[in-house]
Amino acid sequence: MPDLMECPRLPGHLLANARLLPDRYEILPLLPKGRVVAEIGVALGDLSENFLLTCQPREFIAVDLFKLHEIPMLWGKPTAELFGNRTHGEFYRERFAEPIRQGRMRVIEEDSVKAIEGLPDHSVDIFYVDADHSYASVAGELAVIKRKVRDDGLIILNDYIMNEAGFSNAPYGVIQATNEFMLSENWEMIYFALQSYMYCDVVLRKASSRGAAPAGERLAALEQQNAALHQALEAMRASRSWRLTAPLRSLRQSLRPKRERT
Ligand SMILES: C[S@@+](CC[C@H](N)C(=O)[O-])C[C@H]1O[C@@H](n2cnc3c(N)ncnc32)[C@H](O)[C@@H]1O
Repeated sequence: MPDLMECPRLPGHLLANARLLPDRYEILPLLPKGRVVAEIGVALGDLSENFLLTCQPREFIAVDLFKLHEIPMLWGKPTAELFGNRTHGEFYRERFAEPIRQGRMRVIEEDSVKAIEGLPDHSVDIFYVDADHSYASVAGELAVIKRKVRDDGLIILNDYIMNEAGFSNAPYGVIQATNEFMLSENWEMIYFALQSYMYCDVVLRKASSRGAAPAGERLAALEQQNAALHQALEAMRASRSWRLTAPLRSLRQSLRPKRERT
């Protein structure tokens, strides 16, 4: 059992608008088109390609260390074969040569936190966070992202899972960092996308911008509604027509079968 950190509990009001999706690819058509998208950790670019095709971003910012060619094997294959004897960065830039040439894609070869810090404040509509999954890294990224994302923007976090289950079992900090961020910054979950090994994705948006009421406020509103309904009921019972039809109601009640009456 890896050394797992306990996750803070999320209150109901930050989950009330969450929808469950079969997988992360179902998120993409639900995102706004023509926006600024930043994918933090792009690897070979498989998701980048899906983002480009489905969301047609005005600008796509690809952030990665681009050092995967330095390791001999990746996902069961030699990296030399995977990258065609190119570096990771060369492979990615070649794959996306056209959108880069068109000025629709920008590639930043840097550590995630430094790269995000270099973006103008409130300039990104959608962040997709999928780099280092340790607590320190994700918490560090979210601390910067909150200044860089637009007020009506979205943050998607990949690998919302406790550890690298089924592989190295190394602990992850994605859930802890995400939940802490949601609680401290008042961001709500709007999608939870499943994955076949539960390497799930979550999509967050600022709760206050949508006016999501805290549980206490919603309870007060329900109590108010309840009191108003009681008042209306009492007024109806006190009315002349209600009193005049009372014998009729009692007769109907006595004619019902016994089981129904009880
Ligand atoms: C899981 S892969 C990303 C997969 C990609 N998002 C996809 O869905 O196809 C993680 C990537 O994050 C990059 N990465 C890891 N730590 C990083 C860091 N501190 N800064 C920037 N990139 C990082 C790795 O180089 C790797 O390419």
